[in-house]
Amino acid sequence: MEFVRSIWEIDKDYMALVEDLLENENLLKLNDITHHHYTTRLIHSLFVSYVSYKIAKRLKLNVRAIARAGLLHDFFHENREEIASMNQGSHNHVHPKIAVKNAEQLTELSELEKDIILKHMFLTTTKVGLPRYKESFVVTCVDKYCAMNEISTPLRIRAKKKVSEWGMKLRVVHA
Ligand SMILES: [Fe+2]
Ligand SMILES: [Fe+2]
Repeated sequence: MEFVRSIWEIDKDYMALVEDLLENENLLKLNDITHHHYTTRLIHSLFVSYVSYKIAKRLKLNVRAIARAGLLHDFFHENREEIASMNQGSHNHVHPKIAVKNAEQLTELSELEKDIILKHMFLTTTKVGLPRYKESFVVTCVDKYCAMNEISTPLRIRAKKKVSEWGMKLRVVHA
């Protein structure tokens, strides 16, 4: 995810919207947690936040809310086992609620920002209601896009490497 990391850092308009959040140690701890196998929870959150922000800018939506809530949408430190032991429901249902609670300790959340975080797992859990705002729809779609990208890109690179290794072996055999 180096590509996103370098782009968001040099985008001053975007950074101005989220830099106070990025000073919080609790949020930065997400960089120690592996997410979607190949990235960290912080980089994933920045990826979702930045892509959502760019779309919001294009569609003239609330860029501040989407950048901030996008960054805070997975603000939880528990692993799947810890969430399961809470007996409050599925991982997809519980972690957005934890993220809202943690985000509220860090900054004041508007109703829009709360909806974005709470509904970002829309369609993967039946208990969450419909997203109420366009911004919430953007983030839930971008979250799924980023997750697929984060999982598939390293796999694609590994598959490509394997194919080229097989190609090399075949060339050696037939030489
Ligand atoms: Fe999530
Ligand atoms: Fe996410």
